[in-house]
Amino acid sequence: MELKGKHIVLGISGGIAAYKSVHLLRLFVKAGAEVQVVITPNGKEFITPVTLSSLSRRPVISEFFTANTGEWHSHVDLGLWADAFVVAPATASTIGKMANGIADNMLLTSYFSTRGKVFAAPAMDLDMWLHRATQRNLATLRADGVEIIEPEAGELASGLVGKGRMEEPERIFEVVAAALASPRQLKGRRYLVTAGPTYENIDPVRFIGNYSSGKMGYALARALGEAGAEVVLVSGPVSLPTPEGDIRRIDVTSAREMLAACEMHFPECDGAICCAAVADYAPAVCAEKKVKREKLDRITLELVKNPDISATLGAMKKPGQTLVGFALETDSEMENALGKMKRKNLDWIALNSLRDKGAGFRTDTNKITLLSAGGGTTEYPLMSKEEVARLMIEEIFISK
Ligand code: C5P
Repeated sequence: MELKGKHIVLGISGGIAAYKSVHLLRLFVKAGAEVQVVITPNGKEFITPVTLSSLSRRPVISEFFTANTGEWHSHVDLGLWADAFVVAPATASTIGKMANGIADNMLLTSYFSTRGKVFAAPAMDLDMWLHRATQRNLATLRADGVEIIEPEAGELASGLVGKGRMEEPERIFEVVAAALASPRQLKGRRYLVTAGPTYENIDPVRFIGNYSSGKMGYALARALGEAGAEVVLVSGPVSLPTPEGDIRRIDVTSAREMLAACEMHFPECDGAICCAAVADYAPAVCAEKKVKREKLDRITLELVKNPDISATLGAMKKPGQTLVGFALETDSEMENALGKMKRKNLDWIALNSLRDKGAGFRTDTNKITLLSAGGGTTEYPLMSKEEVARLMIEEIFISK
């Protein structure tokens, strides 16, 4: 992947994995990027600035001033210069400071001044990774728009085995390069995305719903927006902010409302991604008043089948429109997903299996296999939903 003319700030904090950052730096430089290394004081205990400056062909920045000349290093300039800021390794301490606005070294002041995309590749021991404080800080960073490149499981420097090893440089490179590569390729295109659950009312205060958080659909809308597309985001009830970009959000509650919004907007779109977890059934009638417990010992709820939105769009689909669905399966995954793609006239289906840990509802990560009606299969490793979304958009709409 080409990164010619791109400016990358590589932030190195103090962890054993700092040695891997040398390789990451080489990959960025080889791809044509200009790289400025910023290292924390602790980082220098693990890797020498001389190695880094000779590979990046720039002096490594660590202190606010150069001691002998008194030259001041402007973190603001660095922040404005960066197309991407990549913190690798990101230690628990650096993650904590980034999440809480503590700016006590050059890496952190540069981070707080960065307008470009920020990535963090955590590296730490497994108990530190699992600690509630770390997970809380990571959630804050994700909400701040930082893309967390999840660590791998394996043998750690402590000898313990678990999650916490920094992701391999090749993978970090791929994620950053995909985000930086010609980002506006879908300019002039419009896509519909359905996201979140639907709520089917039983009475004015109760509903049938499901655990969908909407995170995957929102990540897809964001990735489409980042690629320059216009997005109509038809969203069930979720508590997520609308992603930045040219995104028109239409809030709906029930499957029927979602269907109506989709039928209205699909004809003017180049494609749709049906990511919503639509309730399969809705109460046949919605009671006008709250159903009172005192009066009834047992109640029977009559349910009727909801319309299938993706199948409806599949039947409406015109040549040139691309339709993408999701399949969450627990058994005979491949067979069921292929069957769904055919039945609903989809062009692509993203399969997640409930057998995979970290995949599916409410998590920040997902593991999918992308199947195309043409017979293609791409299996992705466990990644953040942001990364999954970006790679899906690349595969389905950009590279094809
Ligand atoms: O059949 P199943 O619900 O497993 O299919 C999942 C796919 O179909 C998803 O893309 C989902 O958004 C879509 N779907 C829909 N309307 C429904 C049920 C599912 O659009 N009523």
